[in-house]
Amino acid sequence: MKSSDFFTLANGVTIPAIGFGTWQIPSGDIAYDSVKEALKAGYRHIDTAQAYGNEDSVGQAILDSGIDRSEIFVTSKLPAEIKSYDQAVRRIQFTMKKIGLYYIDLYLIHAPWPWTEIGADYTKENIEVWKAMEEFHESGKTRSIGISNFSVKDIDAILENSRTKPMVNQIKLHIGHPQVEITDHCRKNGILVEGYSPLATGKLLNSKKIAEIANKYGKTVAQLSIRYVLQKGALPLPKSTHPEYIRQNIDVDFEITPDDISYLDNI
Ligand code: A2P
Repeated sequence: MKSSDFFTLANGVTIPAIGFGTWQIPSGDIAYDSVKEALKAGYRHIDTAQAYGNEDSVGQAILDSGIDRSEIFVTSKLPAEIKSYDQAVRRIQFTMKKIGLYYIDLYLIHAPWPWTEIGADYTKENIEVWKAMEEFHESGKTRSIGISNFSVKDIDAILENSRTKPMVNQIKLHIGHPQVEITDHCRKNGILVEGYSPLATGKLLNSKKIAEIANKYGKTVAQLSIRYVLQKGALPLPKSTHPEYIRQNIDVDFEITPDDISYLDNI
Protein backbone atom coordinates (compact mmCIF):
# COMPACT_ATOMS: atom_id res chain seq x y z
CA MET A 1 0.00 0.00 0.00
CA LYS A 2 1.23 3.49 -0.91
CA SER A 3 0.88 6.55 1.32
CA SER A 4 -1.43 8.03 -1.31
CA ASP A 5 -3.71 4.96 -1.30
CA PHE A 6 -7.01 4.63 0.50
CA PHE A 7 -8.67 2.14 2.81
CA THR A 8 -12.39 1.59 2.22
CA LEU A 9 -14.71 1.62 5.21
CA ALA A 10 -17.63 -0.81 5.54
CA ASN A 11 -20.02 1.85 4.23
CA GLY A 12 -17.92 2.44 1.08
CA VAL A 13 -16.36 5.72 2.25
CA THR A 14 -12.67 5.90 1.35
CA ILE A 15 -10.08 7.11 3.83
CA PRO A 16 -6.48 8.17 3.02
CA ALA A 17 -4.03 5.49 4.21
CA ILE A 18 -2.03 7.77 6.53
CA GLY A 19 -3.55 10.36 8.83
CA PHE A 20 -1.90 13.31 10.52
CA GLY A 21 -2.47 13.05 14.28
CA THR A 22 -2.87 16.19 16.37
CA TRP A 23 -2.93 14.83 19.94
CA GLN A 24 -0.82 17.04 22.23
CA ILE A 25 -0.49 19.72 19.56
CA PRO A 26 -1.62 22.91 21.29
CA SER A 27 -4.45 24.95 19.83
CA GLY A 28 -3.50 28.22 18.12
CA ASP A 29 -0.51 28.82 15.87
CA ILE A 30 1.20 25.48 16.55
CA ALA A 31 -1.80 23.33 15.60
CA TYR A 32 -2.76 25.66 12.73
CA ASP A 33 0.77 25.69 11.25
CA SER A 34 1.28 21.94 11.74
CA VAL A 35 -1.95 21.08 9.91
CA LYS A 36 -1.11 23.55 7.14
CA GLU A 37 2.34 21.98 6.86
CA ALA A 38 0.84 18.48 6.79
CA LEU A 39 -1.57 19.42 4.00
CA LYS A 40 1.32 21.00 2.08
CA ALA A 41 3.33 17.78 2.54
CA GLY A 42 0.49 15.78 0.96
CA TYR A 43 -1.52 14.47 3.92
CA ARG A 44 -5.22 14.43 3.11
CA HIS A 45 -6.41 13.00 6.40
CA ILE A 46 -6.33 14.95 9.67
CA ASP A 47 -7.24 13.48 13.05
CA THR A 48 -8.34 15.65 15.95
CA ALA A 49 -10.59 15.30 19.03
CA GLN A 50 -12.66 17.54 21.25
CA ALA A 51 -10.36 16.54 24.12
CA TYR A 52 -7.29 17.84 22.26
CA GLY A 53 -8.75 21.34 22.48
CA ASN A 54 -7.52 22.16 18.97
CA GLU A 55 -10.57 21.44 16.78
CA ASP A 56 -10.88 25.16 15.99
CA SER A 57 -7.29 25.54 14.76
CA VAL A 58 -7.50 22.29 12.80
CA GLY A 59 -10.75 23.35 11.11
CA GLN A 60 -9.38 26.80 10.30
CA ALA A 61 -6.20 25.37 8.76
CA ILE A 62 -8.33 23.11 6.56
CA LEU A 63 -10.56 26.00 5.48
CA ASP A 64 -7.55 28.22 4.72
CA SER A 65 -5.58 25.51 2.89
CA GLY A 66 -7.14 26.23 -0.50
CA ILE A 67 -7.61 22.48 -0.95
CA ASP A 68 -11.10 21.36 -1.88
CA ARG A 69 -12.90 20.22 1.28
CA SER A 70 -13.95 16.97 -0.43
CA GLU A 71 -10.28 15.98 -0.80
CA ILE A 72 -9.58 16.12 2.94
CA PHE A 73 -10.73 13.46 5.40
CA VAL A 74 -11.38 14.92 8.86
CA THR A 75 -11.85 12.91 12.04
CA SER A 76 -12.84 14.15 15.47
CA LYS A 77 -13.92 12.44 18.68
CA LEU A 78 -16.56 12.63 21.38
CA PRO A 79 -14.85 13.10 24.78
CA ALA A 80 -14.34 9.87 26.73
CA GLU A 81 -16.20 11.10 29.81
CA ILE A 82 -19.44 11.73 27.86
CA LYS A 83 -21.57 8.74 28.72
CA SER A 84 -25.22 9.72 28.26
CA TYR A 85 -27.34 10.28 25.15
CA ASP A 86 -28.21 13.91 25.99
CA GLN A 87 -24.64 14.89 26.78
CA ALA A 88 -23.48 13.19 23.57
CA VAL A 89 -25.96 15.15 21.44
CA ARG A 90 -24.76 18.42 23.00
CA ARG A 91 -21.08 17.58 22.61
CA ILE A 92 -21.55 16.55 18.98
CA GLN A 93 -23.05 19.99 18.35
CA PHE A 94 -20.10 21.52 20.20
CA THR A 95 -17.60 19.75 17.93
CA MET A 96 -19.40 20.98 14.82
CA LYS A 97 -19.44 24.54 16.11
CA LYS A 98 -15.79 24.46 17.14
CA ILE A 99 -14.39 22.80 14.04
CA GLY A 100 -16.33 25.19 11.80
CA LEU A 101 -16.74 22.74 8.91
CA TYR A 102 -20.05 21.97 7.22
CA TYR A 103 -19.49 18.24 7.76
CA ILE A 104 -16.83 15.91 9.09
CA ASP A 105 -15.79 12.53 7.73
CA LEU A 106 -15.51 10.40 10.86
CA TYR A 107 -16.56 10.80 14.48
CA LEU A 108 -15.37 8.39 17.17
CA ILE A 109 -16.28 7.69 20.79
CA HIS A 110 -12.88 8.56 22.25
CA ALA A 111 -12.79 5.74 24.80
CA PRO A 112 -15.13 3.18 26.40
CA TRP A 113 -14.51 4.71 29.84
CA PRO A 114 -13.63 8.16 31.21
CA TRP A 115 -9.82 8.62 31.40
CA THR A 116 -10.06 8.76 35.20
CA GLU A 117 -11.64 5.27 35.25
CA ILE A 118 -9.72 3.25 32.67
CA GLY A 119 -11.13 -0.28 32.46
CA ALA A 120 -14.44 0.53 34.20
CA ASP A 121 -17.59 -1.05 32.77
CA TYR A 122 -19.64 1.53 30.85
CA THR A 123 -21.29 -0.96 28.50
CA LYS A 124 -24.84 0.30 29.05
CA GLU A 125 -23.78 3.93 28.69
CA ASN A 126 -21.75 3.27 25.53
CA ILE A 127 -24.79 1.65 23.91
CA GLU A 128 -26.80 4.77 24.75
CA VAL A 129 -24.09 7.10 23.43
CA TRP A 130 -23.85 5.02 20.25
CA LYS A 131 -27.49 5.91 19.50
CA ALA A 132 -26.51 9.58 19.41
CA MET A 133 -23.61 8.66 17.13
CA GLU A 134 -25.96 6.78 14.78
CA GLU A 135 -28.29 9.78 14.64
CA PHE A 136 -25.34 12.08 13.92
CA HIS A 137 -24.38 9.77 11.05
CA GLU A 138 -27.95 9.66 9.74
CA SER A 139 -28.07 13.48 9.78
CA GLY A 140 -25.32 13.49 7.15
CA LYS A 141 -23.09 15.77 9.21
CA THR A 142 -20.55 12.98 9.60
CA ARG A 143 -19.90 10.52 6.79
CA SER A 144 -18.94 7.70 9.15
CA ILE A 145 -18.78 6.77 12.84
CA GLY A 146 -16.60 4.59 15.00
CA ILE A 147 -14.95 3.95 18.33
CA SER A 148 -11.52 4.31 19.88
CA ASN A 149 -9.67 2.35 22.55
CA PHE A 150 -12.45 -0.28 22.55
CA SER A 151 -11.61 -3.84 23.68
CA VAL A 152 -13.13 -6.96 22.10
CA LYS A 153 -15.85 -7.01 24.76
CA ASP A 154 -16.62 -3.31 24.28
CA ILE A 155 -16.80 -3.78 20.51
CA ASP A 156 -19.17 -6.75 20.80
CA ALA A 157 -21.56 -4.80 23.03
CA ILE A 158 -21.91 -2.16 20.30
CA LEU A 159 -22.17 -4.71 17.48
CA GLU A 160 -24.99 -6.51 19.28
CA ASN A 161 -26.94 -3.34 20.02
CA SER A 162 -26.63 -1.13 16.96
CA ARG A 163 -28.32 -0.26 13.70
CA THR A 164 -25.01 0.95 12.27
CA LYS A 165 -21.81 -0.94 12.97
CA PRO A 166 -18.72 1.04 13.94
CA MET A 167 -16.58 1.53 10.83
CA VAL A 168 -13.31 2.24 12.66
CA ASN A 169 -11.61 1.38 15.95
CA GLN A 170 -8.67 3.68 16.67
CA ILE A 171 -6.21 2.08 19.08
CA LYS A 172 -2.63 2.45 20.24
CA LEU A 173 -0.60 0.34 17.84
CA HIS A 174 3.12 0.19 17.28
CA ILE A 175 6.12 -2.16 17.11
CA GLY A 176 6.16 -3.94 20.46
CA HIS A 177 2.43 -3.38 20.98
CA PRO A 178 0.73 -5.21 18.08
CA GLN A 179 -2.75 -5.59 19.68
CA VAL A 180 -3.31 -8.86 17.83
CA GLU A 181 -6.57 -9.87 19.53
CA ILE A 182 -8.34 -6.56 18.89
CA THR A 183 -7.03 -6.14 15.34
CA ASP A 184 -8.12 -9.71 14.41
CA HIS A 185 -11.57 -9.12 15.91
CA CYS A 186 -11.96 -5.83 14.05
CA ARG A 187 -10.89 -7.39 10.76
CA LYS A 188 -13.44 -10.21 11.19
CA ASN A 189 -16.17 -7.63 11.75
CA GLY A 190 -15.26 -5.28 8.90
CA ILE A 191 -13.93 -2.57 11.23
CA LEU A 192 -10.84 -0.68 10.05
CA VAL A 193 -8.12 -0.38 12.69
CA GLU A 194 -6.36 2.95 12.97
CA GLY A 195 -3.13 3.03 14.95
CA TYR A 196 -2.21 6.03 17.04
CA SER A 197 1.25 6.58 18.54
CA PRO A 198 3.00 4.55 15.80
CA LEU A 199 6.32 5.67 17.33
CA ALA A 200 5.16 4.79 20.86
CA THR A 201 5.07 8.57 21.51
CA GLY A 202 8.74 8.69 20.53
CA LYS A 203 9.95 5.76 22.65
CA LEU A 204 10.84 3.65 19.59
CA LEU A 205 13.15 6.31 18.23
CA ASN A 206 16.13 5.16 20.32
CA SER A 207 15.76 1.45 19.62
CA LYS A 208 19.00 0.02 18.21
CA LYS A 209 17.19 -3.09 16.96
CA ILE A 210 14.69 -1.06 14.94
CA ALA A 211 17.44 1.28 13.72
CA GLU A 212 19.38 -1.68 12.32
CA ILE A 213 16.40 -2.77 10.22
CA ALA A 214 15.59 0.80 9.18
CA ASN A 215 19.18 1.28 7.95
CA LYS A 216 18.81 -1.69 5.61
CA TYR A 217 16.07 0.20 3.76
CA GLY A 218 17.79 3.59 3.98
CA LYS A 219 14.86 4.81 6.11
CA THR A 220 14.57 6.35 9.56
CA VAL A 221 13.20 4.51 12.59
CA ALA A 222 10.09 6.69 12.34
CA GLN A 223 9.51 5.72 8.71
CA LEU A 224 10.04 2.01 9.40
CA SER A 225 7.67 2.14 12.38
CA ILE A 226 4.94 3.86 10.38
CA ARG A 227 5.39 1.46 7.47
CA TYR A 228 5.09 -1.46 9.91
CA VAL A 229 1.62 -0.32 10.98
CA LEU A 230 0.53 -0.04 7.33
CA GLN A 231 1.81 -3.53 6.54
CA LYS A 232 -0.19 -4.83 9.50
CA GLY A 233 -3.27 -3.67 7.56
CA ALA A 234 -3.88 -0.73 9.89
CA LEU A 235 -3.97 3.01 9.26
CA PRO A 236 -1.13 4.88 11.01
CA LEU A 237 -1.64 8.31 12.58
CA PRO A 238 1.84 9.80 13.09
CA LYS A 239 2.11 13.25 14.61
CA SER A 240 4.80 15.89 14.72
CA THR A 241 5.12 19.64 14.90
CA HIS A 242 8.35 19.72 12.86
CA PRO A 243 8.01 20.24 9.11
CA GLU A 244 10.92 17.90 8.39
CA TYR A 245 9.37 15.06 10.41
CA ILE A 246 5.90 15.78 9.03
CA ARG A 247 7.27 15.30 5.50
CA GLN A 248 9.36 12.28 6.46
CA ASN A 249 6.44 10.46 8.07
CA ILE A 250 4.40 10.31 4.89
CA ASP A 251 7.37 9.25 2.76
CA VAL A 252 6.94 5.54 3.46
CA ASP A 253 6.46 3.95 0.05
CA PHE A 254 8.79 0.99 0.52
CA GLU A 255 8.15 -2.63 1.43
CA ILE A 256 9.37 -4.35 4.59
CA THR A 257 10.10 -8.03 3.84
CA PRO A 258 8.03 -10.73 5.62
CA ASP A 259 11.19 -11.84 7.49
CA ASP A 260 11.79 -8.34 8.82
CA ILE A 261 8.12 -7.98 9.76
CA SER A 262 8.41 -11.21 11.81
CA TYR A 263 11.54 -9.89 13.47
CA LEU A 264 9.78 -6.62 14.32
CA ASP A 265 6.75 -8.59 15.59
CA ASN A 266 9.01 -10.08 18.24
CA ILE A 267 10.50 -6.85 19.54
P1 A2P B 1 7.71 16.43 17.59
O1 A2P B 1 6.24 16.60 17.87
O2 A2P B 1 8.58 17.27 18.46
O3 A2P B 1 8.01 16.63 16.15
P2 A2P B 1 3.76 9.21 18.20
O4 A2P B 1 3.24 9.55 16.83
O5 A2P B 1 4.08 7.76 18.38
O6 A2P B 1 2.84 9.67 19.28
O7 A2P B 1 5.14 10.01 18.41
C1 A2P B 1 5.17 11.40 18.45
C2 A2P B 1 6.51 11.87 18.93
O8 A2P B 1 7.52 11.49 18.01
C3 A2P B 1 6.58 13.38 19.03
O9 A2P B 1 7.37 13.66 20.17
C4 A2P B 1 7.31 13.80 17.77
O10 A2P B 1 8.12 14.93 17.99
C5 A2P B 1 8.20 12.63 17.50
N1 A2P B 1 8.40 12.42 16.05
C6 A2P B 1 7.42 12.35 15.11
N2 A2P B 1 7.96 12.08 13.91
C7 A2P B 1 9.29 11.98 14.09
C8 A2P B 1 10.38 11.73 13.21
N3 A2P B 1 10.19 11.51 11.91
N4 A2P B 1 11.63 11.72 13.74
C9 A2P B 1 11.84 11.94 15.06
N5 A2P B 1 10.84 12.18 15.94
C10 A2P B 1 9.58 12.21 15.46
